[in-house]
Amino acid sequence: MPLGAAAQIQDAGVPRLAQDGEGTQLLVDGSPFIILGAQSENTSASNLEDVEVVYRDLDAVHANSATIPISWSLLEPEPGKFDFHLVDGIIEGARRHHLKLILLWFGTSKNGLMGFTPDWIKTDRATYFRVRDARGDEQYAISPLSTAALKADQRAFSALMSHIREFDQRDHTVIMMQIENEDCLYPEDRDYSVAANRAFAGQPPPELMSYLVKHREGLTPALQSAWKLTGYRTTGSWTNIFGDMAPEVFSAWAISSYIDGIAEAGKAQYAIPYYINVPLINSGQVRAGDWPSGTANSQVFDIWKAIAKHIDIIAPDIYRIDFPQQAAFYNRSDNVLFVAEVGIAPYYAPYVFTTLAGMNGIGYTPFGIDRGYEYSSELNAGQAALEENFRVLRPLLPLIARNRYRGTLFPIVLDMYRHESLAIPLGDSLTAVVHFDEKFVADTEAHRGGGIIIKLAADRFIVAGEGFHINFAELKGLPRDAECLSVEEGTFDGETWITKRVITGDRGNVSLRLHQPSILQVHLDRKVN
Ligand code: DGJ
Repeated sequence: MPLGAAAQIQDAGVPRLAQDGEGTQLLVDGSPFIILGAQSENTSASNLEDVEVVYRDLDAVHANSATIPISWSLLEPEPGKFDFHLVDGIIEGARRHHLKLILLWFGTSKNGLMGFTPDWIKTDRATYFRVRDARGDEQYAISPLSTAALKADQRAFSALMSHIREFDQRDHTVIMMQIENEDCLYPEDRDYSVAANRAFAGQPPPELMSYLVKHREGLTPALQSAWKLTGYRTTGSWTNIFGDMAPEVFSAWAISSYIDGIAEAGKAQYAIPYYINVPLINSGQVRAGDWPSGTANSQVFDIWKAIAKHIDIIAPDIYRIDFPQQAAFYNRSDNVLFVAEVGIAPYYAPYVFTTLAGMNGIGYTPFGIDRGYEYSSELNAGQAALEENFRVLRPLLPLIARNRYRGTLFPIVLDMYRHESLAIPLGDSLTAVVHFDEKFVADTEAHRGGGIIIKLAADRFIVAGEGFHINFAELKGLPRDAECLSVEEGTFDGETWITKRVITGDRGNVSLRLHQPSILQVHLDRKVN
């Protein structure tokens, strides 16, 4: 039995993912937890004063979680000599601020590069050999085929997870771990080192092929069509089987195997949820290597599913204006949506409602809450938009957690440049009609309105958010507009509603105005029940 396993088995409060009917919940201390957080800059955690700034920024936006990197070079400056003082301080700081923590393991690869590896790894090129490009030139990246690097990373990550288990097993401050960061190959489609060339000339492993055969009908379109072109071959070289897509599939296999090895070693010490984050394909990128090759994007997602058995979530980093389409790809029955990174520009802010209400996501964590001076105008507007959305969402989280996967959560989000109203069918012959305030509609710099509807019953709704007004239209009979019995503004303590004011107006059928962040409870007078 691995070292930490006995201790892990007894503790039911350890953060974990649990299947709940058709859905997946993140459980912390046995209760569903939804992550409203943000990520620090990449190098903000080299001292605890800077981390404190991150925590203060997170408090200011009503976050309940922090996402902070742990650098391998700072953790293990000399082989086998670990320095946990930053890890401990980061955890203690989060506890003081009542924040949960998602730690990012910046180990062998940060965006396909080796910047966060210790100097003793960087300088020992013979042992920890590097990725080579197609001309044979060394890159600033450790090869995913390097078993020595894998072993060294496994040893460091195991030490980290063992330490976190000992330090945090009662408090459960650390709730998830990210393995590496946007691991990929770039700007080549694959590694051309000697070891990689040898493996590429061989055959794909049988476990990969049997997974693909078993899931053939459900494969993503890119892989499906590449494989179809070779007549769904199952034997031969990578190129025989995957044709032109072989280098990218090979990269996905090499990287996912490497990451899974690290995750397996870490889970033996402390088995909380582990995830990877994915850089997406941007428009204008036409081939692997233009886009990051081998990451779990829409090209090779299935390869990761086949190989990375110790990874619980494949999470997108979304810096594209078509957020809903990109997020939808990662919202699957075999993969709960967690938005690991998203732009902090105000444009993205309402997509927290898309994530939590539209796609049953478990969390939303924009990148760079403490970004420096040069980004300040975007940051200030982004922080403001985040603050307003998190302010209304925070008290709603227990209710949202209970309503996930029930068809009773509805996002109110307008797509960019569509200066229109929304009609949101709520079931039971009722539709919400939403008109957005002009000042909130939409360019990437501007704050956009948005919100959430939670259906408590056929005649009772929570409406929260800002930047719109809303009325309820009956789809059958008369009256055409549903009449309101009461409208209250308030908040929740747990799941108990606290009324702040009663705002039922002069008219029976009201248009509810949410010009500022607010939470309303609406009781309609309806014939159905
Ligand atoms: C994506 C990376 O994963 C992050 O670490 C960060 O560098 C952002 N890009 C910057 O936008």
